[in-house]
Amino acid sequence: MPTITVDGIELEVAPGRMLLQALDDAGLLMNGITIPHYCWHPKLRIDGSCRLCQVEVEGMPKLQIACNTPVQDGMVVRTDTERVKRAREGVMELLLVNHPLDCPICDQAGECKLQDYAFEYGVTSSRTREPRRALKKNVDLGPTIVFDQERCILCRRCVRFCDEIPRTRELSVVGRGDRSTIETFPGRPLDNDYSMNVADICPVGALTTKDFRFKIRVWFLEDVPGLCTGCSNGCNVWLGVANNKVYRYVPRRNDEVNDTWICDEGRLSYKTIGAPDRIKRPLVRDAEGVRRDASLDEAIAESAARLRRLIDSKGAGVVAGVASAHATNEDLFSFRRFLEALGTDTAGVAVARGREDALLIKAEKGANAEGARRLGFADAAAVADRVRSGGVEALVLLGHDVLEEAYLGGIEPLTSLDTVIAIDSHVSALERVAHVLLPARVAAEKHGTLTNHAGRVQRVQPAVEPSWEAYGEGELIARLGAALGLPGFDGRWEVREISEALAAAVPEFAGAGLDEVGAGGKPLAARKAGA
Ligand code: SF4
Ligand code: SF4
Ligand code: FES
Repeated sequence: MPTITVDGIELEVAPGRMLLQALDDAGLLMNGITIPHYCWHPKLRIDGSCRLCQVEVEGMPKLQIACNTPVQDGMVVRTDTERVKRAREGVMELLLVNHPLDCPICDQAGECKLQDYAFEYGVTSSRTREPRRALKKNVDLGPTIVFDQERCILCRRCVRFCDEIPRTRELSVVGRGDRSTIETFPGRPLDNDYSMNVADICPVGALTTKDFRFKIRVWFLEDVPGLCTGCSNGCNVWLGVANNKVYRYVPRRNDEVNDTWICDEGRLSYKTIGAPDRIKRPLVRDAEGVRRDASLDEAIAESAARLRRLIDSKGAGVVAGVASAHATNEDLFSFRRFLEALGTDTAGVAVARGREDALLIKAEKGANAEGARRLGFADAAAVADRVRSGGVEALVLLGHDVLEEAYLGGIEPLTSLDTVIAIDSHVSALERVAHVLLPARVAAEKHGTLTNHAGRVQRVQPAVEPSWEAYGEGELIARLGAALGLPGFDGRWEVREISEALAAAVPEFAGAGLDEVGAGGKPLAARKAGA
């Protein structure tokens, strides 16, 4: 392992790495050792075009660009000399020759690298007298992205992204000199499953998403770490929150899960959190079949009375449970204990399925499908068969994915059941058949963990507080268990206690509790052979 010294800090680095990459590997880049950079991105090919990352290397007469200088044993690097400072000022001056100086009306202001670096390393006045180059504003690049040609600093990150990550190659640099700009090919707009990542990696306000631009100034947003729940990949995101509302998802780097990317569909799924179709209060159906609002106590009492009557007359075998791949590990563990205490073993997890690709998007459209399986829930197809064959008279549901074609294929098979109790976050056809409907929280509204497709347990936490009635699934199950007088249920539900009980009861989850998984998550312990 070569040893290098950067600003007096000695580091062992992997052979063959470039200097900037080696510092990023060590977690020191911009986090102890400051080397400003535009064109370099940890997940893209090296471009070496912006020249901002120049550093002094002992024994080399000229400054070197850190992004394209291979590490060598004994290398001594300085990032803070007068020569380096002057070089940065020169690069910044050239970049600002043509750049509009209208940050107050630019949507990137507050998270712009040109603004930040101009402040840190730039000069305070301009030596040019010529008018700034006028190029096109508001260029529509496709369904998701708008381009401001004047703000582009030609770092080519967006071009390399399209070439290397989705490999759709929609963008290229055209023109020469100060007329150079980014363009799509004629008739081929920027339109791929990951297109909006170009706005994240554009260091300036040249590329903005149609969804987020000019909605809110970024300094009003609080960034809360969370997960996209659109599929079982469990991509790490920052939820941009202001006024108890989520305004956007942007990728949160996790090299084990999503690198620095998220898909467009997942990115836009933040809209489901505060959507108008959220279930906002408990509903019960009276003897005439009329749905009405109810208090939580009333809805729980009605659910318990229906289940108790059936169990006392026909036994627990006629009751079945279907878990949701959207519920947390802690919610699902409570549900499993509830079904065990009830005495039924007819249970499974329903998982909606859809498109997948080789990059991030997974076919299972539920963030915790794997968690449900590890907690003992088999696929709900067998439960659906039993419902259709008349072996089930009461169904307790988390979510509504059981209505998918692979399971019940709609509400028809549920219409003949004695009791349907549904705990769900969004309105679906279930509303027409459920005898009791209880409003659930979504992942961005509660504490818990989700297990992604690869068995990595990752944390979620409340980013917003619903302004309507909504409860965690585990909390509702705890109340229902207590109302039924089930052993082990006293109506209380505390996520940390459940997390500890889960780790104690399911050995794979040992060491992967709520407070143990950290910001990047933790893989579950390997399954024992034959388990
Ligand atoms: S649009 Fe942004 S990412 Fe693309 S080359 Fe210009 S500055 Fe770089
Ligand atoms: S790949 Fe899946 S988890 Fe990742 S952003 Fe897309 S939908 Fe969300
Ligand atoms: S970051 Fe090194 S040349 Fe651009």
